[in-house]
Order: sequence, then C-alpha cells, then structure tokens
Amino acid sequence: SVMKEVSGLEELELQLRAILNIEEVIIVAGDSDENELVKKEMGRACASRMKKAFSTDNIIAITGGSTVAAVAEMLTPTVDERNIMFFPARGGLGENVQSQANTIVAKMAEKTMGQYKLLHVPDQVSDDVYSSLVEEPAIKETLEMIQQCSMVVHGIGDAITMAKRRKTDAETIQKISDGQAVGEAFGYYFDADGNVVHKVRTIGLQLENLENVPCIIAVAGGASKAKAIAAVVKQRQGRKTILVTDEGAANELVRLK
Ligand code: F6P
Repeated sequence: SVMKEVSGLEELELQLRAILNIEEVIIVAGDSDENELVKKEMGRACASRMKKAFSTDNIIAITGGSTVAAVAEMLTPTVDERNIMFFPARGGLGENVQSQANTIVAKMAEKTMGQYKLLHVPDQVSDDVYSSLVEEPAIKETLEMIQQCSMVVHGIGDAITMAKRRKTDAETIQKISDGQAVGEAFGYYFDADGNVVHKVRTIGLQLENLENVPCIIAVAGGASKAKAIAAVVKQRQGRKTILVTDEGAANELVRLK
C-alpha cells in the first residue's frame, strides 16, 4: 500500500524476514512501549491476518497477555460460513483475569460469533493433581483439540519480566536468570539461541505440538521485546511463523543483528 511505501515499513519487513529467517513479517508503525495505541494496531493487523488464513473449519489455540487481548478486540464476524473454535493453548500460566487465555477465548468467540472451550487448570499443581487433571473429561476434550489445531496465535514476553509478572518463586527466577533466558512464550523460557531454559509445567500445547500446526502467528512489539522475539522465533528456524510486530521492535532487531 502507498502508506507502507511512504513509511518504509515494507522495506523493514523484508529486512526482518531475512534476519529472523521466517516466512512472513507484518510491521505496524510506532513503538508499543511508548504508545498504547500501537498495541491496538498490532491487534488489528493480527486479526486481519488471522481472518485471511481462515478456512471452513478452524480450531484456534491462543495464549494470554495484553497483546493477544488487543487482537480479540479487533476481531469481527466472518462474512462467509466459517466454523471457528477458540481454546487456550495452555492452562494456568499465571495472568490476571483480563490477560488470561480463558477470558480472551470467550471474547474472540463473541467477536467472531464463533465458539470457545475453556481450560481450567490451577497455576501450580502437584504431580498427583496433575495426573488426575489430565483424566478429567473436559480437560481431555480440550487436549484432544490440540491435535487438530489449525492455528496458534501467541504472545511473546521478556523472560524476567514474565517470570516476575507470574510471581515465580525465587529459586525458579534464579534458574531463569542463570540460564540467561531472554524470551518467553507458552510458558517456555528461551535463551538467545532458542534453547529452553525453563518450562512452566502445565496442561495444554507443548512446544513439540507446534510442528503440526499449519498456521502460527506470533504477536509482540516494543523495542524492549526485541531480544525476546529473536529468541522465541529462532527456535523455530525454517518453520512457518508469521510475526506481527511494531516498528520499535523491528528497528531494535535490525540494530542487534
Ligand atoms: O502469559 C501469556 C503470554 O502470552 C506469555 O507467553 C507472553 O510472554 C506474554 O503473555 C505476553 O504478554 P504481553 O502481550 O502483555 O506483553
């Protein structure tokens, strides 16, 4: 589009695709660290990219966070007949109510006139509770959907920021910082090379499951998330990931290259 050419964002998208070695990058103007409205624009761009990828039947796993919540706000009903089912990718990652995947799936279903399933899992579970939980019919049903998942939409966060936001215990924070984790997604903490440093033990989508998902969209922006984005995307090299980000993160990623 003309606007994009004028702002040079298309050029930046090409550069970022090469740096991150991923299939598609969508960049919105501005830096969400500095301006809340930019997060809304990322939400809009992500929502429209999701709609473009919809087929007749859609089973969509999403994670929580404020950015994915912004995506929900921007979704609209589909024009043609679509079956759309939203569910949380993983349960109990420790977010407040507005940012929980459970809350966001309900919102997405409402906005698209689709359906949703919840995943009720406490944040910290013992081994015993964990093994009986996965046998619960409602949870089993959601876990089965993961196998048929057609799309994943997830946020990315700075590792230490996320560990603190989740009120992670001191010992685990130490492990995360000793392991030099820089990025977090799905409850997995990654170092700069994309190695898993720590993983929140919870039910739902595991990293391995991503391999079978045809469409993966990561949505994250702000210069402060540049290292996190690189770490999370790197571990998927060669795989199909669509990154929706902002100019702030993109410029920083180019600078760090
Ligand atoms: O906790 C869910 C989650 O998607 C994390 O995996 C991610 O790091 C974080 O939220 C992103 O949150 P925000 O968009 O608010 O920065």
